[in-house]
Amino acid sequence: MRVIVESDAAAVSRRAAKFIAALVRRQPTCVLGLATGGTPQGTYQELARLHRDEGLDFSRVVSFNLDEYVGLAPTHPQSYRYFMQESFFRHVNIDARNTHVPDGRALDFEAHAQQYERQIAERGGIDLQLLGIGTDGHIAFNEPGSSLGSRTRLKMLTPETLADNARFFGSIEAVPRLAVTMGVGTILESRQCLLLAVGESKAQAIRDTVEGPVTAQVTASALQLHRDVIMVLDEPAASKLARLGYYREVEKAQAELEAAGRARG
Ligand code: PGA
Repeated sequence: MRVIVESDAAAVSRRAAKFIAALVRRQPTCVLGLATGGTPQGTYQELARLHRDEGLDFSRVVSFNLDEYVGLAPTHPQSYRYFMQESFFRHVNIDARNTHVPDGRALDFEAHAQQYERQIAERGGIDLQLLGIGTDGHIAFNEPGSSLGSRTRLKMLTPETLADNARFFGSIEAVPRLAVTMGVGTILESRQCLLLAVGESKAQAIRDTVEGPVTAQVTASALQLHRDVIMVLDEPAASKLARLGYYREVEKAQAELEAAGRARG
C-alpha cells in the first residue's frame, strides 16, 4: 500500500486528479471506476479544469460508478447518477453512452447486478478504481460484515452511514435504506485502487484500513490484499497512523527517484 499524505483537501484533490489524468493520457480508452460523496468532488473539479485548460480528452474513456441508492430516479438531485452528471460528466467530453451507474430503480436487482458485473468484464475490467471511505470503514456501500468476496448486489446501510449522509438529504429519515453496490470482490479485481480520505472523522477508519487486521468489519481493510493501492490522505485523516514517519520517508524517496528519472529524460 502506498500512503501519500498531503497538507489539505485541495492538495489531495490535485494529487488524485494527477494520477487519473496520467492514466487517461497514457491509455485514452481506459476504464475508470468512479465514486461519489463529498471527498472526490475536488478531484472532479480538477479533472474538469485539466480538460478545459489542457485538453485532457475523455472522449474514449469508459466509467463505472460504485453504487446507487435504491428508489431514486436518475433525475433525483441526491441520486448518484445526478451527482456524477453535475459534478463531472457535464464538464468534460466523456460520451454519455460510456458512463455506467447502477440503476436504483431496476425491477429485478439480482439480474441488474449480474448485468453490471458482465458489462465491467466486457469492457475489459476496471483500470483504476477511485474510492472514498466511510467513517465505519466501508468502501462503496460495503458495510461492516459484508463478505470480502462479495459482488454487486443490494446492501442495507448502517445507522452510521445513514447519519453521515443525512447532510445531503436534510434528515436521516429521508436517506434511502438500501443501495445497489459493487462488492468488495468486484473492487479488488480493479487493476489499481486510489482511495482518498479527508478530515479527522476518517482518521480511525484509515488507521484500521492501513494498519489493522484484514476484517469484514472494516471492508476497506481488504485493500491490504490488493497489489496496487494508493491512498491519498490529508493530515487530519492520516493523524492516527502509527507508521506515519515511515510513509513520509518512503514518499520522499519516491519523489527523489521520480526527479532522477525526469532528469535522465
Ligand atoms: P464522503 O463519503 O466522501 O462523503 O465522506 C465517503 C464514503 O462514504 O464512502
